Amino acid sequence: MENKARIITVAGKGGVGKTSICASIVRLLVERYPDKKILAIDADPAVGLSVALGVDVKLTLDDIRMSIVDSVENGETSAALELLSEARFRIFDALVEMPGFAFLAIGRPESSGCYCKVNSYLKEVIGLLANSFDYVVIDGEAGIEQIQRRVMEKVTHLLLITDQSKKGTQVVTTIKQVADELIRYDRIGAIVNRVTNPEMEDLISIPDVEILSFIPADSAFAANEIKGRSVLELPEDSAMLKGVEKALRKIEIL
Ligand SMILES: Nc1ncnc2c1ncn2[C@@H]1O[C@H](COP(=O)(O)OP(=O)(O)OP(=O)(O)O)[C@@H](O)[C@H]1O
Ligand SMILES: [Mg+2]
Repeated sequence: MENKARIITVAGKGGVGKTSICASIVRLLVERYPDKKILAIDADPAVGLSVALGVDVKLTLDDIRMSIVDSVENGETSAALELLSEARFRIFDALVEMPGFAFLAIGRPESSGCYCKVNSYLKEVIGLLANSFDYVVIDGEAGIEQIQRRVMEKVTHLLLITDQSKKGTQVVTTIKQVADELIRYDRIGAIVNRVTNPEMEDLISIPDVEILSFIPADSAFAANEIKGRSVLELPEDSAMLKGVEKALRKIEIL
């Protein structure tokens, strides 16, 4: 286990707090492990994690991919091949160095046509990149598609995020079933976020998944966001940070 990267990702219905929780995970890892190499990946084309972490993104992985695809379409095969071998180095152009962590935005997914070779190459490059980090935190889009398409084929820690609604727990129940079939993970757990009725927590359950923590609906968290501040600027005693920390302890990340 020692030299292996911990790859942590989140999944759940839209708007349940996946991005907020990912940003909190990154902050807690940076604070706890200042000497470890930490990579945050925004795999949601709607790019939310960059905002939550206060990162200024200038170049996405998709921008790099598109320049390769353009060369292929123009029939410049040899140029494209050259670019492919160069892509490995150009990935680093898309990495943003932040204090204590690196950040990579994936950008838009493929719009049309099949560029399978390019995509699988880039997937491999991401895999290589993951190997040079101790912790990789991936914020995905809502729903089950990224798990279905096996974008996150190998993760070590899969966190299912839900709100207190039946719909939310049903979505993560389905995600667990699909994940069991299609991807590999070592540990799984759930976080119930934006809880307004803590007295009813006992009524919430997800088959075969431990609920690691309940995070209250937190007006201080909302206020921080309204003021345009990142999760890195949240007060240390924030309910969101406390709740995420509890979950990470239970799943042995912290
Ligand atoms: N515990 C909380 N208390 C108050 N507001 C919260 C809490 N968790 C998240 N929010 C707010 O809810 C909104 C949605 O959160 P977030 O963007 O993290 O969800 P998401 O699951 O990533 O959404 P999407 O599916 O669109 O990517 C944000 O405005 C966020 O600030
Ligand atoms: Mg999000």
